[in-house]
Amino acid sequence: MALIQNWLPPSRENWELICWIWQFFPLVTTAQWLIDWYPQGKTSNDSRLNLPGKWAWATMEAPGFLTLLYIMFALPKEQGIVELPWGNWTMAGLFTIHYIYRALLAPLVLNPSMSPIHPLVWLLAVCFQLMNSISIGGWLAGYGPTTVYDWAGRLYIMEIGLVVWGWGLLANIYHDDDLREIRRAADRKQRREAEKSGKPPEKVDKVYMMPKNGLFQYVLYAHYFCEWIEWAGFWMVGGWNCTPARSFLLNEIATMLPRALQGRRWYVEKFGKDKVGNRKAVIPGLL
Ligand SMILES: NC(=O)c1ccc[n+]([C@@H]2O[C@H](COP(=O)([O-])OP(=O)(O)OC[C@H]3O[C@@H](n4cnc5c(N)ncnc54)[C@H](OP(=O)(O)O)[C@@H]3O)[C@@H](O)[C@H]2O)c1
Repeated sequence: MALIQNWLPPSRENWELICWIWQFFPLVTTAQWLIDWYPQGKTSNDSRLNLPGKWAWATMEAPGFLTLLYIMFALPKEQGIVELPWGNWTMAGLFTIHYIYRALLAPLVLNPSMSPIHPLVWLLAVCFQLMNSISIGGWLAGYGPTTVYDWAGRLYIMEIGLVVWGWGLLANIYHDDDLREIRRAADRKQRREAEKSGKPPEKVDKVYMMPKNGLFQYVLYAHYFCEWIEWAGFWMVGGWNCTPARSFLLNEIATMLPRALQGRRWYVEKFGKDKVGNRKAVIPGLL
């Protein structure tokens, strides 16, 4: 039974409409080039409306993989497809693995603290997740390849894509963790000092330092760069004609690039030009 008739799972007509609209998302992100207001993370503010960072991240990111999984199970039944080919399930698996890390493990288990998020940012992120997962889910669950023959002859390039995806994910996690270590180290220091002074340890919320390891030597948003590599690998697995995977990568770049450039300005303001040096924002040697 459909959750929302013709939308979840989407009818072919509605899926095509969503995929078409989704290609124009970079136009929405032009606002990010024009205004610096982005109440999340380093640039969060004290709004009374703010949502707690960890739970906001989990609830804004989780709808993506949950929707995709729902479509993977519901749409084939509607379309009379008995079994989806392994290539479709492989891509659904990659998407799910990434978002189990991003939506559940990172905010709720691994991150020492996350700044509060304004509901508007939360809402836009939920819309991103829904549009993206319907676009990719529809392609994977009935409107893209539906037999093993549709994947024929693509094994070699799929393997390369899987390797690129895997290294991108590992590198993304590595750089995310380098940022976590800054707060874990600050927390250890606070606790040592608290033990000596007998006072309770201070919180490590909003403790920022210059990240230094891995690609952070060259760019301040190495974790973003690695995530783009990851989704470029995902697109390779799906193939040149997999427009939902292409839109995903381009839309991520469209929203994360201005955010990284804004973040570089933030680092220069907080730590000074000398400390930032010639490190770029997100693409080593370029941007
Ligand atoms: N933002 C997006 O539009 C977007 C889109 C798709 C995927 N992602 C992925 O989601 C992950 C997180 O993205 P994000 O935009 O939240 O990244 P971020 O602003 O760099 O923050 C990541 C985490 O590290 C902390 N942090 C950041 N810089 C730090 C520093 N210099 N010292 C100590 N702690 C620091 C942040 O704390 P605070 O929260 O307190 O600042 C937050 O907990 C990344 O791997 C990214 O690739 C982001």
